[in-house]
Amino acid sequence: MYNSKITGLGYYVPKNVVTNDDLSKVIETNDAWIQERTGIQERRHVIKGDGDTTTSMGVKAAKIAIERSGLHKDDIDFIVFATLSPDYYFPGPGVLVQRDLDIKTIGALDIRNQCSGFVYGISVADQYIKSGMYKNVLVIGSELHSHGLDMTTRGRGVSVIFGDGAGAAVLSREEDNTKGILSTHLHSEGQHAEELSLIAPGMGKRWVTDIIADNDPNDESYFPYMNGQFVFKNAVVRFSEVIMEGLGANNLTPANINMLVPHQANLRISQFIQKKFGLQDDQVFNNIMKYGNTTAASIPIALTEAWEQGKIKEGDLVVLAAFGSGFTWGSVIIKW
Ligand code: UT7
Repeated sequence: MYNSKITGLGYYVPKNVVTNDDLSKVIETNDAWIQERTGIQERRHVIKGDGDTTTSMGVKAAKIAIERSGLHKDDIDFIVFATLSPDYYFPGPGVLVQRDLDIKTIGALDIRNQCSGFVYGISVADQYIKSGMYKNVLVIGSELHSHGLDMTTRGRGVSVIFGDGAGAAVLSREEDNTKGILSTHLHSEGQHAEELSLIAPGMGKRWVTDIIADNDPNDESYFPYMNGQFVFKNAVVRFSEVIMEGLGANNLTPANINMLVPHQANLRISQFIQKKFGLQDDQVFNNIMKYGNTTAASIPIALTEAWEQGKIKEGDLVVLAAFGSGFTWGSVIIKW
């Protein structure tokens, strides 16, 4: 058995910055409410027509990650792509990355685990590398939320939170079993599937011909729905549980954490976890203030920024943790 380690990281965000004040011009909201409840100051939204898509942003992040890994694109053995906002209903963006990176006809897998998508993706890549099947796996998390949000006051509880962007990591074989990804821990609880969901377009709801015939602009099922307080309450419990599960599996405690990179769902959730585990400010990385919640992209963007800023060093214990729609949640324990 081998271990896998992260050998390259990259991210890309669209250039268009949307502040809370910008949002308050189109929906009834305000900077004070958004900052107080979420910590978000601004986010990025793709400008329609400027060419950014979920796939293209993922490709841009991937190119940086591959270059930093020191590999050639044809050294990549497998692609894993996590998103809830794919370019097409099908095929998923994994194959579009294979095409747009112009690499060999390697396998490409799409992951549909929303905010936990990157953690699930890392876990999949880790298993392939552990088993010896692949040497280098590219994992991408990318989201283009802004084209699908309800930008009216009706949707304000959701629409102020989400932002666009992409992050990517290259995982490579590590011969030393004490280094790299030590373990991953995944969970789901489908009982709460609809509490944070986008019901349509979906084959479970209606015939597509009915949807076209109705063409109902007031059909809210085409916009994301979130039972915010219920999700918040579950998030703080599951984040704590799955971090402790990961640490426990490796005979570690919160005191051993050098850097916790939580999914950027809400600054209040990160602060709650930080306090609960007695971590200092330099032991938890947050960038939700700048990018909002970018779902599957949030951990790889945050991890890349933390690494770029020199906040993660060789030998550090790095913990990734996510919770979101499904519900799904998970953690990754890494010896950097
Ligand atoms: O990434 C996946 C996981 N996601 C999460 O973990 C998110 C978890 N949930 C949350 O972060 C929070 O629940 C929110 C930030 C989404 C909402 O905060 P909240 O404190 O739970 O607010 P609320 O939804 O209970 O709404 C409180 C009030 C309501 O007004 P009334 O009924 O008290 O008069 C809302 O209508 O705030 C109002 N409100 C807003 N006001 C200004 C809701 N959205 C807005 C807004 N601007 N954008």
